[in-house]
Amino acid sequence: MVATKARKARTQFVCKECGAASNKWLGRCMTCEAWNSLVEESSQPAEPEGSMTAIREEFRSLGQNPAGSGTHNNPPHPLWVDLNGGTQGSAAAAGDAVEARLSTSSRELDRVLGGGLVADSFTLLGGDPGIGKSTLLLQMAGGLARAHPGIKIIYASGEESVTQIRGRAKRLAVSAQQTIFLMSEVVLEKVFQAVKELRPQVLVIDSLQTFTTESSPSSPGSVTQVREVAARLMTLAKTACVAVWLVGHVTKEGSIAGPKTIEHMVDTVLYFEGEEGQSYRLLRAVKNRFGSSRELGVFEMQGEGLQEVANPSSLFLSQRSTPVSGTAITATLEGTRPLLIEVQGLVTPSALAMPRRTSVGLDSARVSLLGAILEKHLKVHLSERDLFFNVSGGLKLSDPACDLAAAVAIWSSARDYKMALDWIFLGELGLTGEVRRVSQLELRIQEAARLGFKTVVLPKNNSHEQEESAEWRNIKKIKSLKIISLAQISQLESIFS
Ligand code: TYD
Ligand code: MG
Repeated sequence: MVATKARKARTQFVCKECGAASNKWLGRCMTCEAWNSLVEESSQPAEPEGSMTAIREEFRSLGQNPAGSGTHNNPPHPLWVDLNGGTQGSAAAAGDAVEARLSTSSRELDRVLGGGLVADSFTLLGGDPGIGKSTLLLQMAGGLARAHPGIKIIYASGEESVTQIRGRAKRLAVSAQQTIFLMSEVVLEKVFQAVKELRPQVLVIDSLQTFTTESSPSSPGSVTQVREVAARLMTLAKTACVAVWLVGHVTKEGSIAGPKTIEHMVDTVLYFEGEEGQSYRLLRAVKNRFGSSRELGVFEMQGEGLQEVANPSSLFLSQRSTPVSGTAITATLEGTRPLLIEVQGLVTPSALAMPRRTSVGLDSARVSLLGAILEKHLKVHLSERDLFFNVSGGLKLSDPACDLAAAVAIWSSARDYKMALDWIFLGELGLTGEVRRVSQLELRIQEAARLGFKTVVLPKNNSHEQEESAEWRNIKKIKSLKIISLAQISQLESIFS
């Protein structure tokens, strides 16, 4: 691995977005056309293929050799400290503990992963600083160890000391795990050495931006470095059959810092999000080679770590007991999970020549479009009025099935109609005012019935087309629900009379 010939360092400009390199600075990347994305980096002519082959060679033999006891100047520390002096856990299950899917003991996390952790998967976890990424992964390590006795996990942190991680683990009650090994390290090769010696099934790297690889001379966090670290970890995951987790910081623009190429490299990209001042956290899959990429997990950050939220609909519905105007409830789908949420509209007289259209949680263009549909088909006058729109709980909606509820919320505010608390609205709206069918109707309605809703307004198309279908028969069986079908938004007012 040591370079025999002194390779000459040179300066190049690397695109932060796509990783393309250029010899001179350009205002716009020639490859991905992003503006102002080129940063200067000192780099040696890389020999990525050569070094990756070396990693493959190194770890391919891992399968045959028993765990080595090589000399190591930064040995990994077990999380569990035996007061009698022993630290090593049972090594027996090292190889056999691996199965296709590893349960993390967290139903939320397992579901987001598509049914558990895949043995040689490479996962990137992104999120704002302080959102709880390290907490989630430490709890995951504890959960994996609980569900699979004997499984070995290395948790390598470039941000915290071993004592700090132990302290946190104690607070999170991730204790007495003999097979979780902690490392405070920033050099990737040291971690690789530990992987060779311990042969873990899971490796957590916290975080991508703090780690460096000896093969690349650029500074930690630089595009070249980040890409090299990720590429090496990917090779490791695939050759040594280790499930690798990589924590990434999110940039202001919302993408994981470093070139986009990293998102292409990994099997799964998860984002951990939460609103400022709110204690709940959403774990969202944006890419998943092993499951749905729209899956959502809901957690709540408490004093003793992240708790799963079994009934997330309750988080996004208000606790109000009397009807008010300007709100409507709908059931959106996040991956395979139905989620009931409240949308709110507020229509007020405007003092501005150009009335305001402000939306939080739904695309503003969509809100303007709904406003135009209401003007045209229900004669709701919005031209001299400000329109504000909000999705409660800070959720972001992209499901077209929420159109009808959004329109109803705006209409209800404009007309000052107090909306009943136990109604729910499902339907997409077309420009002609037609209420169009929605997917997975049964799933959404079951959730509404479960939470005690009494009336559901749904697209006429759904009921007509599916009169004979098993799904429709199941819906009809829910006796607690009154079903109102709506073909046109212009008929909206008639259903309330
Ligand atoms: P952390 O996992 O360090 O975030 P990240 O790795 O994404 O930067 O989480 C830190 C925040 O979580 C911190 O603000 C304190 C809070 N927290 C709790 O509220 N309860 C807990 O049990 C823990 C461990 C952290
Ligand atoms: Mg952290």
